[in-house]
Amino acid sequence: MGLMDGKQGLIVGVANDRSYAFHIAKALTEHGATCAYAHIPGDKNARRTGKAAEKIAPDPWLHPCDAGSDDDLDALFQQYKKDFARLDFLVHSIAFADRDWLQPGKFCVTPRQAYLDAVDISAYTLSAMAGRAKDQMASNGGGSIMAMSYYGAEKVIPGYNVMGVAKAALESTSRYLASELGEHGIRVNTISGGYLRTLASSAVGGVDQMEQAAREKAPLRRPVEGSDVGNTAVFLASDLGAGVTGENIYVDCGMSILGA
Ligand SMILES: NC(=O)c1ccc[n+]([C@@H]2O[C@H](COP(=O)([O-])OP(=O)(O)OC[C@H]3O[C@@H](n4cnc5c(N)ncnc54)[C@H](O)[C@@H]3O)[C@@H](O)[C@H]2O)c1
Repeated sequence: MGLMDGKQGLIVGVANDRSYAFHIAKALTEHGATCAYAHIPGDKNARRTGKAAEKIAPDPWLHPCDAGSDDDLDALFQQYKKDFARLDFLVHSIAFADRDWLQPGKFCVTPRQAYLDAVDISAYTLSAMAGRAKDQMASNGGGSIMAMSYYGAEKVIPGYNVMGVAKAALESTSRYLASELGEHGIRVNTISGGYLRTLASSAVGGVDQMEQAAREKAPLRRPVEGSDVGNTAVFLASDLGAGVTGENIYVDCGMSILGA
C-alpha cells in the first residue's frame, strides 16, 4: 500500500529528466499517485516533457501552458478537471529570469520589465495556479500545493540577483496562500532545494563551484540529489504532512545552516 494510492495531481515544470519536477513526479508515482503534466507550448516542448514523463509511467496526460498567460492557465485547469476526478496535489516547479541579468554585478541595472517578468513567472503564477486549483481540491476535502524555492530568497547568492527577489516573493506568496486556503483543507508549502544541474540552474552565473562546495562543506558532505527533493514532496503531498502548511523546508544537505 503506497502513501499516495488513489491520489491524483498536476505537475508543472518537467522540462526533461533532470528537472526537479521530474524527480518529484517520479517519487509521487512510485508511492502510488497518478501525475498529469503541463508543459510550455510547442511540439518540441511537448515531446521533451512527454519523453521524460514516459520514463515514469506510460501514456502521460500532457497539456500545454505558458504560465504567463491567464487563458493558458484557465484552459489547463479546466481540461484537468474534465479528465480527472480529483486534484490532490499541485506541484509548481517553474521559474524564469532573463539570463542577461543573472550575473554578479548586474542586479542594480536589471530593467524594470526583466524584474517584473521574473516575479510574474516565478512567483505570481503560484497564486494564479492555487486560485484555479482551489475548488476542485476543496471538493475532495483539500490537498497539497508545493513550490520550489532556493536559499537565494533569504541570503545573497552571487549572480542569483532578481531570481532571489522572485523566490522571496514565492515563499511569501506560499504563506499567504496557506493562510487563506487552510480552511478548505488545502496546505501550501515551499521546498528550498539545494543546487542541482538543470536547464534553469545553468542560466545562473557564478554557481559553477556549487557542487564542489557541497562536497567540501555541507554537513552531509554531498550535493543534493533529485530524489531527496522527490521524497520530501511525497511527505508534503501525503497524509504524513497533514499538519504542515505555510512552511519552507530546506532539502540541501544542510548547506543553508552554515554561517561560513
Ligand atoms: N536546479 C537548482 O539548483 C534549483 C535549486 C532550488 C530551486 N530550484 C527551482 O526548481 C524549479 C524547477 O527548476 P529546475 O532546476 O528543475 O529547472 P528546469 O529548467 O528543469 O525547470 C524549469 C521549468 O520552468 C518552466 N517554465 C519556465 N517558464 C515557464 C512559463 N512561462 N510557463 C510554464 N513553465 C515555465 C520550464 O518549462 C521548465 O519546465 C524552479 O523554480 C527553480 O528555481 C532549482
